[in-house]
Amino acid sequence: MDQEQLRKRLEFYRDLGVEQIYRRGVQEPVASGPPAAAVTAPAAKAPTPVDIVLPSLAPDNDTLAQIRADIGECRRCRLCEQRKNIVFGVGNESARLVFVGEGPGADEDEQGIPFVGRAGQLLTQMIENTAAKEGIHIKRSDVYICNVVKCRPPENRTPQPDEMEICGQFLYRQLMTIRPKAICALGATAMKALLSSKLGITKMRGEWQKWNEIPLMITYHPSYLLRQYNQQAKREAWEDLKKVLHFAYD
Ligand code: URA
Repeated sequence: MDQEQLRKRLEFYRDLGVEQIYRRGVQEPVASGPPAAAVTAPAAKAPTPVDIVLPSLAPDNDTLAQIRADIGECRRCRLCEQRKNIVFGVGNESARLVFVGEGPGADEDEQGIPFVGRAGQLLTQMIENTAAKEGIHIKRSDVYICNVVKCRPPENRTPQPDEMEICGQFLYRQLMTIRPKAICALGATAMKALLSSKLGITKMRGEWQKWNEIPLMITYHPSYLLRQYNQQAKREAWEDLKKVLHFAYD
């Protein structure tokens, strides 16, 4: 990593609210001026690059309770202004499968629980009915469900890149802490938060991707499936879900 990349990375950490950086186990370069005789040596050696190791954004022995405590009464971005509740996540803390949505809607904001409105009810049915049909004995409470942003965007607008980046550190820590067997990203916002791809969701869904070595499936957001004309998308989402459930629970 060169100096410019390092500067950008540190600025990124600062924007995330990370103010202290610890460097563990990095050897200080030995300050060694050349011996007098070497000063006259013809070929000056290029400086040895110092390998800079930055700490992980997820602290060792992190827990969901610690992450929630670190969020606190968050005022790191403008989404705090109109929210009623921070919607952190719900479900089994050692789930084999984590669903990631976009951000809370009105019902979620009211109750402080993700996916409890219409889209949430559809997600619950999809999980429980598909699992039952496939002979997989799980309920919604066996998986973990969270969102990219933890506060409701006004008028349910799509979260903006800086909001996703700021809240993304907590999503990152949630996923690193749970370390599920698989992640299912619901919709384009969750896809963008977890993958850097220029392709749209219709191209990316249905095929396994990876997020930090964890298999990642992208599928449609349940709100999109609630629109009546999306019959084909519904069939595809059910296929995606079957794949994910079998992978995580077989
Ligand atoms: N849509 C989301 O993306 N998340 C929720 O929690 C509810 C609706």
